[in-house]
Formats: sequence, structure tokens, C-alpha cells
Amino acid sequence: MNEKLDFSQGLVALAPLAGYTDLPFRKIAKKFGVDITFSEMISANALAYNSSKTLHMIQKAENETPYFVQIAGSDIPNIIKAVEKLNAIEGIDGIDVNCGCPVPKVISQNAGSSLLKDLPLMQKIIESVKKHSNKKQTSVKVRIGFVEKIPVQIAQAAENAGADFISVHGRTRSGGYTADVDYGAIKEAKKAIKIPMFANGDITNYEKALYVREFTKCEGVMIGRGAIGNPWIFYQLKHNLPLVEKSMIKGIVLEHFEEMLRFYGSPHGVSIFRKHLHAYSKGFDNATTFRNKINKIEDKNEAIKLIGEFFE
Ligand SMILES: Cc1cc2nc3c(=O)[nH]c(=O)nc-3n(C[C@H](O)[C@H](O)[C@H](O)COP(=O)(O)O)c2cc1C
Repeated sequence: MNEKLDFSQGLVALAPLAGYTDLPFRKIAKKFGVDITFSEMISANALAYNSSKTLHMIQKAENETPYFVQIAGSDIPNIIKAVEKLNAIEGIDGIDVNCGCPVPKVISQNAGSSLLKDLPLMQKIIESVKKHSNKKQTSVKVRIGFVEKIPVQIAQAAENAGADFISVHGRTRSGGYTADVDYGAIKEAKKAIKIPMFANGDITNYEKALYVREFTKCEGVMIGRGAIGNPWIFYQLKHNLPLVEKSMIKGIVLEHFEEMLRFYGSPHGVSIFRKHLHAYSKGFDNATTFRNKINKIEDKNEAIKLIGEFFE
């Protein structure tokens, strides 16, 4: 990808979700037409020091363009080292800076949502990424504040630091993942900046996506949890299809499982696919019995058999 993203027709993004949006899941979401994908959050320190686990985590699927790697950190020399590591990897289209993570371990390092309390440092980090990156785009993912809501200041700080676009999760750090999403704050942030913006938070279906896009006037919507167990949401949005055929689900689940086995091997791939199976089985009869059985299975062939029978 040599050009900047074209937001003119509206874009749909898969949000980064640590523990979920790995290469196999992103590949499936991409098949359903998601426009842009982000890696799970990667520690800039881990990347700077070349952990092989980290390099595995940022691998890109062959169908995955544009693809952004998201980094979290606050130590500028390490961030620059991390960016230099990414510079040497082909196929990554942009670097996204995490300014939203609420986890205490990340906050205690002054990273993630902690940066929303220190906008000059946030700006310096974005500027450093932009200056040292050889990728086309630098983006930023934020919340609307740490405790107090300051969406306009945050959006303007990101824009002034040179971000090409931003994604705004409409909660403060204090709001965790359950407070009401403040789409009004997202709208205010959008009004205050010229760069494109993704609106994010609790977009779980087609109607909500249309509503959020219209209400906030953002150029894009970003979907996280709404895609887990439901990656076809991107196809629905692209094709204006409010409903999806339940008969398709078995094939999709098996294909996702196959990708997991390819990426993680067996039995690790079997055990980490369980959380996805829990999500896919939501709303099906006998889901609890299925989940209890799948929790005990380690053999991939047994898992394939059970999945085939359950989603028949
Ligand atoms: C399990 C989980 C993991 C997450 N991991 C990340 C992450 O690695 N990077 C990030 O910027 N946000 C992360 N988030 C936040 C999401 O990207 C998103 O902003 C938030 O879940 C709200 O959007 P949603 O309601 O569509 O899920 C995570 C959220 C959850 C629930």
C-alpha cells in the first residue's frame, strides 16, 4: 500500500483486541471485507528487544492490507528502537500508537491511557513514531479521557503531533469497558479536527454502525467485541445485509479453527480456540453442554468432529 487510506466512502476497521485479533482471526475478518486491521497491542519494549514471541504476534496474513501494528510504550528511546524493528519488516502499512489501554501494568509504565493525562508526552511519542517510521501512516487509538472527559484536547493533540488518523473509543479510562459510550464526545472530537477518525465502542450490529456513523460524522467505524463470534458483521456492513444465514456458520468456524492450528500448532491452537467457540456458540441450543465438552478436548480431530456436529 503506497497511498494513504481512502476514507471517502467510509471505512470499517477491526479493533485491536489482545488475545483475540491474532493473525487467524484477522484473516477471517478480512475475508468478510473489513477494510483495515490492527495487530494486538505490542509492547514497544518487547519489540525493541526482539522477543521472538512478539515477532510471531505481528505477522501479517497474506490477504491483510492495509495492516497496522499497534505499539504501547512511553520510553521514547525504546519506542524508536521498536519502530526501527518494524521498519525492517515488509508489508506493515502503518504503526498505531496505543493511548487507551486501561490495564494497571501498562498504566504504571506511563503508557496506554495514562498518556491521556500527559498530552505533551503523548504528542512527543506520536511525533517520534512518525519521524522514525518508514511506513506510510501513523495512527493513534485513544479514549475520551482518563477520568475527566477531554475528547477535543486529545483529538487536537494527536492531530497536531502529525497523526494521519485516529480511532476514538468513547469511554474514559475510568469507564472501563462497560460505561455508556459517549457518542456525543466522539462527535465533538471529530468536529475539532480535520484528519479522519474512526468511532469505536459498543458497535455490535449493522443498525448501530449506521447510527454511529451518521451521528458522529466520523469517516469510519471500528468494531471490536462485536466481531468476536461474529466476523461476518463486516460482510453485513459492506453489503447492507441486516441478517446472516446461520447455515454458513459451520464452514466459517472450521476454517477459523484450521487457521488457528496452522498459526499456533496443536494442541495450543485447540486450547486457545475455545474462547472463540464459546462466542460462536452463543444463541445456539445446547451451547452450555457444547462449551463444557469443548473445554476438555485437546485433540484437534475430536474438536473438529464436535464442532461439525454442533454447528450442523
Ligand atoms: C479483550 C479486549 C482486548 C483489548 N485489547 C486492546 C488492544 O490490544 N489495543 C487497543 O487499543 N485496545 C484494546 N481493546 C479495546 C478495544 O480495541 C475497543 O476499543 C473496545 O473494546 C471498545 O470497542 P468494542 O465495544 O467494539 O469492543 C481491548 C478490548 C478488549 C475487550
